[in-house]
Amino acid sequence: MYDLHAHILPSVDDGPKTMEDTLAMAVAAAEQGTKMLLATPHRKDVTEQSSVAHIQSLVDEVNAWLVEHEIDMTMVLGMENHLDLDLPDEVSAGRALPMNGTNYILVEMPFFGRPNYVEEVLFQLQLQGMTPVLAHPERIEAFQRDPDLLAKFVNIGMLTQVTAGSPVGHFGKSVERFTRDLFDRNLVHILASDTHNPAGPRSPVLGPGIEAAARLVGADAANRMVVDTPKAILEGKTVEVGPSRPRSSSGGWWRFWAR
Ligand SMILES: [Fe+2]
Repeated sequence: MYDLHAHILPSVDDGPKTMEDTLAMAVAAAEQGTKMLLATPHRKDVTEQSSVAHIQSLVDEVNAWLVEHEIDMTMVLGMENHLDLDLPDEVSAGRALPMNGTNYILVEMPFFGRPNYVEEVLFQLQLQGMTPVLAHPERIEAFQRDPDLLAKFVNIGMLTQVTAGSPVGHFGKSVERFTRDLFDRNLVHILASDTHNPAGPRSPVLGPGIEAAARLVGADAANRMVVDTPKAILEGKTVEVGPSRPRSSSGGWWRFWAR
């Protein structure tokens, strides 16, 4: 499996504090079958308190340890890039990192509100040749209120990454229901852990999320979300995803708010 969203580097963001915990997370990921894991520290924390050189050196250190201990997993580098007006320039400057040096970039929309520059920034990234991969849309208020906005972004070529804990209720019932609706509309392309800790609900474990996805979209489609699609992204290859579907009559966006 390929995990495209992980806060795993020590003392860089709100992930682990120590290298010991980082390595415990890497081992936990490897033990469940993750072959490649993209470290995605928050851009803001790297820019303000660290550097790209430092996080790259941490990744190198982890990979050397994995080789030394004959653990069959590789860590590669990206970032979780919060969406602000500076993002396109920061990409050009090399301070906002894409996913493993490809033209795919993990973008985190504001959790609350819908700033009027959101669309402009995403389109600008596309003009720069990047494909935005939208981090956990199921947890983003703008999409919860207006799922058609997410469908619009997908239908012009953006991809989505749902967090594996969402379909199993780690972020509450509302997010769980909304996640199911996103699966229903073919608006989920990648499942990733968004891990922050070695154990507990924010661990690198993907299994329960994959099982939940398989019940909703079938085993093959669920498998593509943790193997084929993230692998293609990390290799910089083209990803084929079908168009979004209209919501089915059994599911309704109203359910999110009519709790
Ligand atoms: Fe994250």
